[in-house]
Amino acid sequence: MTEYQVIDSRETVIRDGTIKLHGPEGFEGMRRAGQLAASILDAIVPLMQPGVTTAEIDDKVRELTLAGGAVPATLGYRGYTHSCCISINHVVCHGIPSDKALKDGDIVNVDVTPLLDGWHGDTSRMYLIGDVPLKARRLVDVTYECLMIGIEKAQPGARLGDIGAAIEEHARQFRYGVVREFCGHGVGRLFHDAPEVVHAATAGTGPELRPGMFFTIEPMINLGRPWVKLLKDGWTAVTRDKSLSAQFEHSIGITEDGNEIFTVSPTGLHKPPYE
Ligand code: MF3
Ligand code: CO
Ligand code: CO
Repeated sequence: MTEYQVIDSRETVIRDGTIKLHGPEGFEGMRRAGQLAASILDAIVPLMQPGVTTAEIDDKVRELTLAGGAVPATLGYRGYTHSCCISINHVVCHGIPSDKALKDGDIVNVDVTPLLDGWHGDTSRMYLIGDVPLKARRLVDVTYECLMIGIEKAQPGARLGDIGAAIEEHARQFRYGVVREFCGHGVGRLFHDAPEVVHAATAGTGPELRPGMFFTIEPMINLGRPWVKLLKDGWTAVTRDKSLSAQFEHSIGITEDGNEIFTVSPTGLHKPPYE
């Protein structure tokens, strides 16, 4: 039995398993946090080149986040000490910024979450470094399509499982693997809240989507098998078969007649190439 809780944005919000339903103040807060998040992903485009280290990108993300009046929600989150996650090639998610440099042919996800005035704007995009082989570019394109197809299913009255079912069906046509271990999540005053948004699901199952629900959709799609493993650092998730993996993420809100994407790029840089 799913429980919903109507949120008055002045009250304290805790992670109690309930699905929060927000009003206009919540939408306004998420719009601002989401726009800052998307503008950060826009602003790092010139940095995404061979030779630039992921630590340099992380520094830039922190600088832009603070300049926007926010703090990176990942900084100090469960012991994580960086301002974003940067996941290269076979890294599925939660890649840790380091002195490792980007190189020609890499496909790279940058995932940012500014916390602005109490609201979390969580979004990620893929970047292509130099000359990327067609196979990898196609994976990136299809992963973006998976995200947008999932978002189309996010309608009031639909079920949460409709989203994962649509994503999985699209990925299956290309014989790609949909990662199961990591999910989208409720978002808002909390970084990670109920519900879990799985990206491979059965249509017609799961909680009903209601106006005021905020959550992320963030499919991780592998060129090979769906299986992942965690590296010894406790964060970095990689594909078991070392195949390439791609991911895009938006934070959205369910409205009376559809949904609102809070993290749309203000300059139209939705997916690569970003010329
Ligand atoms: N931004 C990631 C997400 O989409 C979470 C990163 S948590 C971290 O949910 F600690 F790894 F940064
Ligand atoms: Co997320
Ligand atoms: Co994220």
